[in-house]
Amino acid sequence: MADDLFSLLPDPPPHLQGGADTYDAIPTSAQVAIAPGTYDDLDSLARHCQACQRCGLAPSRTHVVVSRGNPRAPILIIGEGPGQQEDEQGLPFVGKSGQLLDRILTSVDLDPDRDVYICNIVKCRPPGNRVPTPQEVAACKGYLLEQIRLVSPKIILLTGATAVKGILGFKQGISQLRGQWFDWQGYLCMPIFHPAYLLRNQARTEGSPKWLMWQDIQAIKAKLGELQPSP
Ligand code: URA
Ligand code: URA
Repeated sequence: MADDLFSLLPDPPPHLQGGADTYDAIPTSAQVAIAPGTYDDLDSLARHCQACQRCGLAPSRTHVVVSRGNPRAPILIIGEGPGQQEDEQGLPFVGKSGQLLDRILTSVDLDPDRDVYICNIVKCRPPGNRVPTPQEVAACKGYLLEQIRLVSPKIILLTGATAVKGILGFKQGISQLRGQWFDWQGYLCMPIFHPAYLLRNQARTEGSPKWLMWQDIQAIKAKLGELQPSP
């Protein structure tokens, strides 16, 4: 790695400080894998994401989009990647899709600031909102796996095909997978429709995407109730 790249990096997290070769251990270059256990906390992960140059999305981003919500939430939600508004604000799901996602959550009394932690398969906006490439997903995946490990949610929701493919590896359409629980590395995982898809399919009749999402979010709320009975 070139020296001038090092000068762009913020201070390393405390557990990696001390030693001239410190930055060799820091996974901001795609040549260096992000090993499980790299980060002690989400703050140090977020600081390194801010300086990340692991893939070709870095030069065109305005902000790296790491997360919003509660780092100790029981539910972790994974989307595809930042859109224009997310890139501008540095927060995931703040545009139209995000507003719908929040309404879906609050419809079953899930508080977007308390009950969920929201992130994406890739942390930088793909130009024109194209689907991230497998290389971009691979370069970013270690950060996501560390987020999952550090949040340690009870439930993971995968919104849309990119999130499902990125975590479960399934290539089937969401319509065949949504509403089903899968075990992924000990986490309960459910694929659900992407809110952008619901915005394009406004019907509310029985069997429509919006109707199915309503079934799914109620099932998710019920499962959470089983997993953490109220005192
Ligand atoms: N769509 C996504 O998948 N993620 C966002 O953060 C915003 C829109
Ligand atoms: N395709 C997707 O990627 N997401 C949906 O929610 C539906 C179709």
